[in-house]
Amino acid sequence: MTVNIILLGPPGAGKGTQARRMVEGRGLVQLSTGDMLREAQASGTEMGKLVAQVMKDGKLVTDEIVIGLIREKLENTDAPGFIFDGFPRTLAQADALGSLLDGMGQKVDGVIEMQVDDAALVERISGRYTCGNCGEVYHDTTKPTKVEGVCDVCGSTDLRRRPDDNADSLKTRLLEYYKKTSPLIGYYYAKGDLHPVDGMAEVDDVEAQMETVLKSL
Ligand code: AP5
Repeated sequence: MTVNIILLGPPGAGKGTQARRMVEGRGLVQLSTGDMLREAQASGTEMGKLVAQVMKDGKLVTDEIVIGLIREKLENTDAPGFIFDGFPRTLAQADALGSLLDGMGQKVDGVIEMQVDDAALVERISGRYTCGNCGEVYHDTTKPTKVEGVCDVCGSTDLRRRPDDNADSLKTRLLEYYKKTSPLIGYYYAKGDLHPVDGMAEVDDVEAQMETVLKSL
């Protein structure tokens, strides 16, 4: 049996943090369109160059590009299910995902809405850094590395801050979220797929809430 879960929430809500925990031991695959777009930039593809400034400014990349990325992953990945992290972000993307899964004889099984206060998002984003090697996510105050400058998980010293994690870009990212992504809350509520969780809780508590949702599906 497959299980496909969408993590829905504003920038900094904790989608990436929780997606990494959800896939552990379950064989599920995390599909983060943000990570895919950053990989395209790092490898210098034409598409990567095209989206670099858009992402730095905090705007959404076109539906055509991100739907293409997801389509390719779904067609080429054999997995018992997917955790969609940062996708869909528009109604067009939500419709496209529904059609893609339908074509595979699958569906969206649940949408977890991570609810976090706007003020906390700013705090989370401005303190975030990530391991460039394994992708582990850290925070200056709430989750620093045990040894300064060294990733707890893989030992890499390649710890990075994202170019879009600045005050101006975050303002745009939040506006994009409220204008284009938040309508998905109503869309999935109407379909009976929405499961809100308190994203203001501690990371372990949020994970426990997610577990409860997964078990209920
Ligand atoms: P993307 O990479 O998806 O960024 P985002 O949605 O803005 O989300 P973030 O990665 O910033 O936050 P998160 O919710 O994963 O939080 P995290 O776990 O890191 O997208 C980047 C850009 O790519 C977009 O702006 C757009 O340009 C483009 N893009 C991507 N997908 C697209 C799409 N589908 N369509 C069009 N364009 C697209 O946590 C944040 C911090 O908080 C960390 O430091 C963490 O340690 C800390 N933290 C996490 N949980 C907690 C907690 N419970 N308590 C305290 N601290 C916590």
